[in-house]
Amino acid sequence: MGETVTTAARIDGKAFAEGLRARIGAAAAAFTQATARRPGLAVVLVGDDAASQVYVGAKAKACEAAGIASFEHRLPATTSAAELLTLVERLNRDPEVDGILVQLPLPQGLDEQAVIAAIDPDKDVDGFHVINAGRLSVGQEGFVPCTPLGCLMLLQDHLGDLSGLDAVVIGRSNIVGKPMAQLLTDANATVTIAHSRTKNLPEVVRRADIVVAAVGRPGMVRGDWIKPGATVIDVGINRLAPTEDKPKGRLVGDVHYGEALAVAGAITPVPGGVGPMTIAVLLRNTLVAAHRHAGLDAPEGI
Ligand code: GUN
Repeated sequence: MGETVTTAARIDGKAFAEGLRARIGAAAAAFTQATARRPGLAVVLVGDDAASQVYVGAKAKACEAAGIASFEHRLPATTSAAELLTLVERLNRDPEVDGILVQLPLPQGLDEQAVIAAIDPDKDVDGFHVINAGRLSVGQEGFVPCTPLGCLMLLQDHLGDLSGLDAVVIGRSNIVGKPMAQLLTDANATVTIAHSRTKNLPEVVRRADIVVAAVGRPGMVRGDWIKPGATVIDVGINRLAPTEDKPKGRLVGDVHYGEALAVAGAITPVPGGVGPMTIAVLLRNTLVAAHRHAGLDAPEGI
């Protein structure tokens, strides 16, 4: 057995998310005291995608634990676009509902963009509506997608001020890569967005003080791509093929963790890194939405 060299600190997203959820719970209790109603999140699940069922169940449980009312709407895969839009419009008008999340992916035949466009931007706690993407890009108050906001929180908690640091975001999705790049730019980092057509990707990544990998390809980022001491945020959650000792398949990130551990200054593990942050930030966005709807200042420190 060769010895494993480890230099990187482990960024414990699970512990950070637990702390955040506790602060949200306290602020939600204060909101309920002040307004005589709980903050409310409506979650809409269409169809029977197994992974989505697990996520939606986890979101409902996390809401209840934080003192946020959870309204679950589970609709059959045969639901028509008109039925789904009617539900979204009803939730837009419902004063008990501060946040609306339509779980993606939707079954084939339902237009995701049309459904997201129907959500009131001020209840769009996923931050997926073009109005919220636009607000983020021009620096107006809105909602920021949960995963990249969670990544920024972990980076700022670990590094403090990000000013002047070189950041490379690998992946340009609307949900993670693009808003991540925007948040890092707003935090005064110098940002490169890399993607499948980027030339000399290892060289580009090697320049970065901060690497955010969000491509969905297991172990793609190798140890020798990473600048010694860099901070690595691994957004990937990839399930490998089942093996005898892992019959459900092992979960791995987009970064080759074993190799990166020997080079990076700090790294998020998979699982237990970015994953737990997404739901915690969803609760945070819902709490912020509730305060805005009630005309109250959003609580500090969450
Ligand atoms: N499917 C997987 N992740 C998400 C998410 O963050 N929001 C929604 N709406 N659907 C998802």
